[in-house]
Amino acid sequence: MNEESRLLSSQVKDPNSPDKKSEKDYSKYFQAIYTPPSLKEAKKRGKEEVAYHNDFAIAEEFRGMGQNRKFYIRTYGCQMNEHDTEVMAGIFMQLGYEPTDTVDDANVILLNTCAIRENAENKVFGELGHLKHLKQNNPDVLIGVCGCMSQEESVVNKILKTYNQVDMIFGTHNIHRLPNILNEAYLSKEMVIEVWSKEGDVIENLPRVRKGSIKAWVNIMYGCDKFCTYCIVPYTRGKERSRRPEDIIQEIRHLAAQGYKEVTLLGQNVNAYGKDFEDLDYRFGDLMEDLRKIDVARIRFMTSHPRDFDDHLIEVLAKGGNLVDHIHLPVQSGSSEILKIMARKYSREHYLELVNKIKTAIPNASLTTDIIVGFPNETDEQFEETMSLYKEVGFEIAYTYIYSPREGTPAAKMVDNVPMEVKKERLQRLNKLVNDMSAEAMKKHDGQIVEVLVEGESKNNPDVLAGYTSKSKLVNFKGPKEIIGQLVQVKITDAKTWSLTGELVEVPNGQKVGI
Ligand code: SAH
Ligand code: SF4
Ligand code: F3S
Repeated sequence: MNEESRLLSSQVKDPNSPDKKSEKDYSKYFQAIYTPPSLKEAKKRGKEEVAYHNDFAIAEEFRGMGQNRKFYIRTYGCQMNEHDTEVMAGIFMQLGYEPTDTVDDANVILLNTCAIRENAENKVFGELGHLKHLKQNNPDVLIGVCGCMSQEESVVNKILKTYNQVDMIFGTHNIHRLPNILNEAYLSKEMVIEVWSKEGDVIENLPRVRKGSIKAWVNIMYGCDKFCTYCIVPYTRGKERSRRPEDIIQEIRHLAAQGYKEVTLLGQNVNAYGKDFEDLDYRFGDLMEDLRKIDVARIRFMTSHPRDFDDHLIEVLAKGGNLVDHIHLPVQSGSSEILKIMARKYSREHYLELVNKIKTAIPNASLTTDIIVGFPNETDEQFEETMSLYKEVGFEIAYTYIYSPREGTPAAKMVDNVPMEVKKERLQRLNKLVNDMSAEAMKKHDGQIVEVLVEGESKNNPDVLAGYTSKSKLVNFKGPKEIIGQLVQVKITDAKTWSLTGELVEVPNGQKVGI
């Protein structure tokens, strides 16, 4: 039986199928349950209108689906995925499921996956291997794969061929369809696959169960149209589409009213915010200007692309207030030639010019970055340019990666003459510089009084509290548990490479403590 008829036959058993009535309807129904991903389709980005939906609701027939059942979601990858997990958890809760933090007593296990590099994918395949025994012991358990890997044809084919413990695969555009997908999986007991390849939709009223009550993530836009030649994200996340400003502002006002202290705005390239509005001249700088007026202590954003970082945005960020003095500005390489073949659309000189503008307007700004080493045919000289740019900018932290070819991207077709040994050695050298400069940046805080948002007990020592400064530096210090969730003043007494140690100076009501 081929895949199509296998899935088709599984539907014949479905007594609730609304489309069982006629041949024509039936084929429509079949489409909905088996839509495999296509990288080619994902690249065909038309000018179709972004459709905004505000009508998400759990269908009557699915209510109570989760009664006496528990869900477990393991999240890989970036904040975007973390936040999608919060949405899926919200949907599970509305269906009546309870959360659990162990796979052993879960009735549904989801792996929310990341496709950015090969090792991210290998972790997921390894985990699927581990989960096989659970399925053998309890055939009723459902295992699902979602997130960015599901958007890749090769991954879906590999799962179909090798991992028959998987019950459902759904894509990043199909999250709101979770109730229908679960329903199919319960009924058919066959692998249910629903992955839409390109999508221009924004769905507004999805439920969410947020992790924590101090910091929150808020999507401001979805997708990416940059197509950097090494990157899979434009294929896995669809085209750039912005949420309407009023929806974002309302969500953040609501978070502020609930007592959240910090909001991180999410988008693959937040500086492109608003470029897709046809009826509105409203960009990221305008949004930040409006968000400054909301009573939430800190507003951050992830990630900004140097290309769309305009003067208005710099001007607004310079006003400070709740807009933090930390900018993550991925550079990827210090060589203009490499940047060109990466299709980043800026040169080393442009990047440095932008950094200068930022530093002039916001002298206190901390800059952090992402760097890829060992891009195909990167020469020693080109790598040295990355090292020198790193020093010249004075980055405080970098996330550094060895280039990983991603199937379907232009860079994956490039012949590469750089041996892996050389790439590893370059990464080591770069990481040494990153460590040294992080330590240097930390040292600057020694003896200073910094404002810390207290997040909880330190992971390593429950007697110590931990929190972050506006520049995202981890601070450990002793203090009463009552100040968790508050902004407090801490005097730094010791600066390590990755964290600071200090003493509590003042709690918010102005009372002096300790010294
Ligand atoms: N939208 C963000 C990046 C998101 S991906 C931006 O453009 O800045 C996070 C980081 O992963 C990237 O900045 C890049 O450094 C790294 N990355 C992406 N694709 C990669 C690949 N194929 N191999 C190695 N690193 C990669
Ligand atoms: Fe990937 Fe480039 Fe888009 Fe960032 S901007 S997500 S690196 S394609
Ligand atoms: Fe990974 Fe997808 Fe994020 S590929 S980095 S989870 S957008």
